[in-house]
Amino acid sequence: MKDDLFFDIPAAYEEIANATKAISFNMASDLYTGSLLKTLVASKPSGYFLELGTGSGLATSWMVAGMDHASRLVTIENNALLQNIAKTQLQDARIDFVLADGYEWIQNYSGKPFDLIFADAMPGKYDLFEETIALLHIGGLYVIDDMLPQPNWPDGHAARVDEFIAMLEKRPDIVFTKMNWSTGIIIATKIK
Ligand SMILES: C[S@@+](CC[C@H](N)C(=O)[O-])C[C@H]1O[C@@H](n2cnc3c(N)ncnc32)[C@H](O)[C@@H]1O
Repeated sequence: MKDDLFFDIPAAYEEIANATKAISFNMASDLYTGSLLKTLVASKPSGYFLELGTGSGLATSWMVAGMDHASRLVTIENNALLQNIAKTQLQDARIDFVLADGYEWIQNYSGKPFDLIFADAMPGKYDLFEETIALLHIGGLYVIDDMLPQPNWPDGHAARVDEFIAMLEKRPDIVFTKMNWSTGIIIATKIK
């Protein structure tokens, strides 16, 4: 099986990737993660999805490609330069681009629960995890990448990742799978 062959890369992906390279943004999600997100999102017709950390929209492009006409995606980013790349390339009424601080947004959100959250920023992952998992339906999916050592990890981050995984391992409200694939993926399902 050649898992590096992708036949369904979103139409906007290449333009976004070029714009991302041009501004030397080095925290972009990879093709494996994108492809997985598309597959998971497609399993939830009329789904309501959240991405924390739009970046320049690479993962966003995969998520929207997996969505049916009735699905909606809210994506949060605090860097306007990055999010504007996504907004320009992904003009789609099903996406709500929110330029906001993720910490504030998570704590102030009072809308309906989500079917899947791709948590790709500090808020929602290493910070405010409890508040973020509370935003999921029972049966909803919590997806994270970059759980294997990455070249851009700051000093001390590896210990934080270990602590975070140890915390997940003790929780009775989720079942989850760790995958040493892509940049290191965890998929958790909320069961309580
Ligand atoms: C790993 S990158 C996201 C990559 C993106 N999902 C992709 O597919 O390329 C993390 C993003 O979170 C954003 N971010 C960091 N802190 C944030 C905060 N407090 N609120 C909102 N966004 C934040 C960063 O600007 C960055 O774009």
